[in-house]
Amino acid sequence: MANKLLIGALSLGRGSNLQSIIDHIKSGKISAKIGCVISDNKDAFALERAQREGIPAYYIYPGTHKTFLDPECEKEYVECLKRHNVELVCLAGFMRILKKQFLEAYRGRIMNIHPALLPSFPGLHAQKQAWEYGVKVAGATVHFVDEGVDTGPIIIQRAVPVHEDDTPDTLAERILKVEHQIYPIAIQLFAEGRLKIDGRRVIIKGIDSVSEYKLE
Ligand code: GRF
Repeated sequence: MANKLLIGALSLGRGSNLQSIIDHIKSGKISAKIGCVISDNKDAFALERAQREGIPAYYIYPGTHKTFLDPECEKEYVECLKRHNVELVCLAGFMRILKKQFLEAYRGRIMNIHPALLPSFPGLHAQKQAWEYGVKVAGATVHFVDEGVDTGPIIIQRAVPVHEDDTPDTLAERILKVEHQIYPIAIQLFAEGRLKIDGRRVIIKGIDSVSEYKLE
């Protein structure tokens, strides 16, 4: 049997996407294993979720900057992932921009989930941005990570209708449910070796319409 894809997850807090990945692995829908979970927040519930599952979980000091990891801290993040033989890094609510040494160590092997239909509404509070703008269709995106903020090649997107009585919070809740569906799909497609980055485009082998794709 082929070795399972080893994932490293980075999360700042709540970790509901991490939980969804864990659940999909447990039910056999994703053929992967989580090698480690890292947080830049000591109190992240994501760390507790990992520990409950017996997954190595680490708080690693991020440094003094708010929006990225200090270089020596970034080195520690990469070393930890390498120590656990991580092949795919999944950002799941990790709010820092990754810099050169991280991107070079895992070029084309870092994914992020964003609660909007990119390239609309990158950055923080995307659901609120979309609601305030007045869009009628919101959504979620999983993309590969590059040096920008939510700018990397898109793997999968799914639309979420905006209801007339939505608030930013109710919209965010509905988007989150979709996030929990599409992140596992992106990971499984990666695990199956179906994703090829071609410039801005991600070519998905053997699947016609990824936005309607379901995991068996
Ligand atoms: C999600 O909305 C994700 O799209 C964004 O941060 C949030 C993290 O939530 N990047 P959780 O920690 O996975 O519950």
